[in-house]
Amino acid sequence: KVRIAVFASGSGSNFTAIEQACREGELQAEIVHVITDKPDAYVIERAKQAEIPVTVLRPKAFESKAAHEHAVIDILQAAETEWIILAGYMRLIGPNLLSAYPSRIINIHPSLLPSFPGKDAIGQAIEHGVKVTGVTVHLVDAGMDTGPILAQEAVRVIEGDAEGTAEVIHKVEHVLYKETLKMLFEK
Ligand code: GAR
Repeated sequence: KVRIAVFASGSGSNFTAIEQACREGELQAEIVHVITDKPDAYVIERAKQAEIPVTVLRPKAFESKAAHEHAVIDILQAAETEWIILAGYMRLIGPNLLSAYPSRIINIHPSLLPSFPGKDAIGQAIEHGVKVTGVTVHLVDAGMDTGPILAQEAVRVIEGDAEGTAEVIHKVEHVLYKETLKMLFEK
């Protein structure tokens, strides 16, 4: 089994989708650790319920970004992590982590990149008035939601229904993420 760590800052619905796929044997992987930067992230409850070790590392508690990343790397190495899976981790990955896990960090983003990187991609797309948006899974580099694209799926914007559109996007995320990871891990 591939040993993965999931990084999340929020609700963690993508964490749950991946965790379920691992548990049900759909993904030949094991989540060995969850890392969050937010002490109140709901993903912490989800990890506990799934009996997966979770660590909160608040960047502000460290004297530099490098020190924060070294603490993250120590945890990952102790857990013998092979891949890092970002699932709503709203923070740029710095040079230390990138060089510790070259081409081994994956991200999911709720738009058809390179359109609408950054925060609230679904809101940005609706605000812009696009008729089609979607989901992207990509390899992480030093940029914000940049890096080689691994998979994309389009989602039609439901006019006048931001919530409904977001719901469809999240459902697509939960399927596309596990399918893309499956393809990567079976290589
Ligand atoms: C997801 O929609 C994910 O694509 C997005 O955060 C959400 C997390 O939801 N990520 C980004 O915007 C990255 N720039 P979740 O906590 O329920 O998985």
